[in-house]
Amino acid sequence: MPRTVYLNGEWLAEADAKVSIFDRGFLFADAIYEVTGVIGGKLLEYSGHTARLKRSLAELGIECPLTDEELLAVHREIVRRNDLNEGLIYLQISRGAADRDFAFPVDAQPTLVLFTQAKAVLDNPKVKTGISVALVPDERWGRRDIKTVQLLYPSMAKMKAAEVGADDAWLVEDGFVTEASSATSHIITTDGKLVTRGLSNAILHGITRLSVLDIARQAGIEVEERAFTPEEAKNAAEAFVTSATSFVLPVTRIDGQPIGTGVPGPLTAKLRQLYIEAKLATAI
Ligand code: PDD
Repeated sequence: MPRTVYLNGEWLAEADAKVSIFDRGFLFADAIYEVTGVIGGKLLEYSGHTARLKRSLAELGIECPLTDEELLAVHREIVRRNDLNEGLIYLQISRGAADRDFAFPVDAQPTLVLFTQAKAVLDNPKVKTGISVALVPDERWGRRDIKTVQLLYPSMAKMKAAEVGADDAWLVEDGFVTEASSATSHIITTDGKLVTRGLSNAILHGITRLSVLDIARQAGIEVEERAFTPEEAKNAAEAFVTSATSFVLPVTRIDGQPIGTGVPGPLTAKLRQLYIEAKLATAI
């Protein structure tokens, strides 16, 4: 079934949605995006994703083309039009089309695109096995807190990981793990603490990360927000990643070395379950 997508106020068959070759998203990666999970036709963590969307736009000085009410209505309508039960909504806003110039144009109209991807996000086979990750140098730009579509290096890192048979990359900078190619990295120490990097421009401020840290604290798990080294991660009791589409997903190997017992750990499983329960209860 071809999808119905949203482009600048119009609902179109996916093959009919066309964007200018002068769009700055295409020419300069001058665009931001959000990925929102959908379960049972409902939006997960909607307010968090919208808040981050606005922050990304503000950092780049791009106007949001829709009001809050319109934005929510478009999210609901795209789910309805595509009969989306489980998967995700991808939203992108670029600065718009303008003749090629490094300076930002003054009068460009932002381009807003939304499309859906149907995907079994709850029943992910990797939950049982965990994923393997390879350590790859972090060679991205310095404003990783802005969710831009500048995703070439994360793609390259993922391909480097695939070359050595790993499912994903954990990026390393100045001797510390920053994050995964498209998810937040976390470890559980042998004394049961959840360690995750603190917020800065070095990582994307994950919406799932924030909720999982809250849930962990409520469950009595001590949380330390600090950078950790690849060595510390390899010697951890458990490791996992979080994101809008993977929720809480175990990492069972880092550079070929088994983490803990080499199978998904109990605290990771508990956090996944608590996270999914909490987010299903508040989905809109
Ligand atoms: N990626 N770090 C990076 C670099 C990411 O790209 C993502 C999300 C995250 C997790 O953020 P959140 O919990 O808000 O999804 C962390 C999305 C899912 C993507 O690019 O598809």
